[in-house]
Amino acid sequence: MQYESTIIQLLQQALDLSQKDISELLDIPPSGKLGDISFPCFKLSKMHKKSPQAIAKELEEAIKIPDDSIVREIKAVGAFLNFFFDISKLTEKTLKQIWNEKEKYGYKENNQKTVIIEFPSPNTNKQLHLGHLRNMALGESTSRIFESQGFNVVRANLLNDRGTHICKSMLAYKKWGNNRDPDKKEDHFVGDFYVLFSKKAKENPQLEEEAQELLKLWEAKDIETIALWEKMTNWANNGFNETFKKFDISFDKIYRESNLWESGKEIILKGLKDKLFYKDEVGNVVVDLGEPLGTKVLLRADGTSVYITQDIFLAKKKFEDFNYSKSIYVIGSEQNYHLQVLFKILKMMNFEFADGCYHLSHGMIFLPEGKMKSREGTVVDADDLITELTDMAKTEILSRREISETEIIDTAEKIAMAALKYYLLKFAASKDFVFNPEESISLYGKTGPYLQYSFVRANRIIQKIDKTPSLEVNFSLFKSPEEISLIKLLKDFPDVLERAAFSYSPHLLAEYAHQLASSFNLFYEKHRVIGEAVEEIQNSRLLLVECFRNVMKNCLYMFGINTVDTM
Ligand code: ARG
Repeated sequence: MQYESTIIQLLQQALDLSQKDISELLDIPPSGKLGDISFPCFKLSKMHKKSPQAIAKELEEAIKIPDDSIVREIKAVGAFLNFFFDISKLTEKTLKQIWNEKEKYGYKENNQKTVIIEFPSPNTNKQLHLGHLRNMALGESTSRIFESQGFNVVRANLLNDRGTHICKSMLAYKKWGNNRDPDKKEDHFVGDFYVLFSKKAKENPQLEEEAQELLKLWEAKDIETIALWEKMTNWANNGFNETFKKFDISFDKIYRESNLWESGKEIILKGLKDKLFYKDEVGNVVVDLGEPLGTKVLLRADGTSVYITQDIFLAKKKFEDFNYSKSIYVIGSEQNYHLQVLFKILKMMNFEFADGCYHLSHGMIFLPEGKMKSREGTVVDADDLITELTDMAKTEILSRREISETEIIDTAEKIAMAALKYYLLKFAASKDFVFNPEESISLYGKTGPYLQYSFVRANRIIQKIDKTPSLEVNFSLFKSPEEISLIKLLKDFPDVLERAAFSYSPHLLAEYAHQLASSFNLFYEKHRVIGEAVEEIQNSRLLLVECFRNVMKNCLYMFGINTVDTM
């Protein structure tokens, strides 16, 4: 919490407790009336065998506030000792800090540590869907948030580019593709053959076996099969890259399953030798993880590896490649068990990096009944959704004003992306939710465009007024509740950012950004800047608007959302 160290110093005047102990006790009261920070006295009451009320009262009398302190008043209320900030000092400190740090406001010093974040790791047999978009939004936002905390972030993508599912698309193309080149976005073209395979296989189950045979050929490095595989995997990847670009994400490292899939075996065999694992009656190498995880096959009797074999190898490989202190896996909750097993095995094997592994698990997305069904009728295509939202944004803008063709494309895309990304990030990652496209793009409510619009309002004031904001203002002129709430929220940004990082929770920042925008909008409705007659007040408010604009831009950046100048 901001200015926590000041409070700790004050408390240490009267208490023989460590910084850490005090810090753990400090809390934010539910209402500003009760102070800005509070110190509950229950724990001390147990230690000293006195009532917490008496302790709070004693502390209130014992602590002397230095003249230049940001704390104005200390008050005992019941079992709590409440600290009140001096609003004008707080304002001065906060606005000066934002002004000086600009786009780095809330950032921490470089801590020299590396975090590797893996997302979205698609299978190369079909195009991306809405679930991938959630994964991408979470992965990118988490990356940016960790960067703000001084980490060196490695964005890694794992391409699951081999296996039966890939061979299904390949087989369908081989049989019915007539060696055609793609006549549409390349990953969609590949996906069509996957769908075609499923359809044909319903009529002719024999095809499943043929796909298995094709996999054997691939594993035997049959020249023709490899050539087809390369061609189709490239198509899929070209298509993905277009979508990644639209979504404004890129990767520092690409891992490919086709390069890893045979590599985990040695590690497993070593574990077998070390008696961590054993062979079951049919010859599979198995691990017994006890309750509740149970037993798990790590290597099949015929020597072939399974999904977990590769992941054990990949965890080690990532560590060798980047010497990470944290490794975050952004993966859907249907793989919770897989990752629990993986992390447990890494611990059993005493890998030094095991404790740094974290599964950022995300839930599913449902759609409002009857809306936006894809051709398969179940999943929503990522590219189709982006196009649909962009069209909706265009229509919306055109209904409000005249705009040139180039400007509308750019603006509509930025609004559509804001709508999409914010909606994907505002729910706690673990939650399932319903994606409502109309709601997501609305200018009102908890939406990305609502945030962009608050930025536009601030921007317009600064562009229209005939002076530039400056720090040379009277910081004690902010008296209204709207101004004070806004300043306090601006003060909180660094805290929220830090909390969002270490709890792997971009949604905390999404919630904060909405509060910040609402608070600014209240200020905007109640107070004038451009029409304000008193020069001194106008200057102070102009600085506040500039600082809001800065912090809102920082927030939006953390979600991967671009600002727009007009809407
Ligand atoms: N490709 C997998 C899927 O689509 C996700 C891979 C996740 N990453 C991992 N290291 N297991 O389900």
